[in-house]
Amino acid sequence: MSDRITQLRNDFDGELKAVSADAGANALRDRWVGRKSGVITAEMKTLGKLSPEDRRVAGQRLNELKDYVEAEIEKLQADFAAKREAEQLVKERIDVTLPGRRIEAGHLHPITLLRQKIEDIFVSMGYEIEDGPEIETNFYNFDALNIPANHPARSPQDTFYINDHLALRSQTSTMQIHAMQKRRPPLRIAAPGRVFRRDTPDATHNPMFYQVEGLLIDRGITLGDLKGTVEEFVRRLFGPETRTRFRPSYFPFVEPGAEIDYTCFKCNGAGCRICKGSGWIEMGGSGMVHPNVLRAVGIDPEEFTGFAFGLGLDRLCALMYGLDDIRLLYENDVRFLEQFR
Ligand code: PHE
Repeated sequence: MSDRITQLRNDFDGELKAVSADAGANALRDRWVGRKSGVITAEMKTLGKLSPEDRRVAGQRLNELKDYVEAEIEKLQADFAAKREAEQLVKERIDVTLPGRRIEAGHLHPITLLRQKIEDIFVSMGYEIEDGPEIETNFYNFDALNIPANHPARSPQDTFYINDHLALRSQTSTMQIHAMQKRRPPLRIAAPGRVFRRDTPDATHNPMFYQVEGLLIDRGITLGDLKGTVEEFVRRLFGPETRTRFRPSYFPFVEPGAEIDYTCFKCNGAGCRICKGSGWIEMGGSGMVHPNVLRAVGIDPEEFTGFAFGLGLDRLCALMYGLDDIRLLYENDVRFLEQFR
């Protein structure tokens, strides 16, 4: 019996070595210690034929063999599991030092970026941002802005009319009227938006473009306030070294009126390609709100005065980004737009 158990153990060791996969380990366990037909189970059943003394010794050795078989198979299964895990780790390995794949996200249009920057400056100076209609009655487009009946801006050659009373606004100055009707002075508003003019499109013109209007009304406001405000505005937009100059000009809704220029943000006034050698860039119109405009909205010009200024965003945007044609801003060509992400 003792030799037989040694033989069994040798047999098992041989079979154990030959197992190369998980399934094999399970089969080996069933074959040796399976409850019904396991080799050791069967061997146990033969113990009854032995003398009590032999039975004790052989029973003990068989039990040891059984423990040994179970432990070896467990070890083998643990080895297989560890090997499987190691293989999986290699297979699923990722190189965290590789650069990530960039996710294509939407981004803002260059005009929007510029508008937001300008809005932020106005807000930082205590102005509220106002939005208003793009289709206006003649009252907002012309009458309230002191634009006389025979003024060329009223002609259908300059303005897009919808009918006799309605037209697309040709300037954000219409927002002066809305703002003053909506709230009583003192008031400070900035109104960005689209405006429309019957211009033939070319590199510097488009029938639709963007303006921002600034308006301030209070007691005792002077031309000095306008100049100081515009100076501060361009410094915040282009940098503290920027200077401004005012050239007398005429707009029906202001008196006096002036065109504003600022020193070129590229060459700071020395003259370069951007400012065409002059050192100055045109910003837009400005002036002290005309008494007739204040009267049109029921504000007493003896009590309140104010200023307004307007600037165009499109040419500025083109200058800032070095575009040689503003129409690029409206064509929605993705190859152009995706450069601004
Ligand atoms: N609305 C004028 C324009 O479009 C600019 C302007 C605004 C002038 C405010 C005076 C005051 O040219």
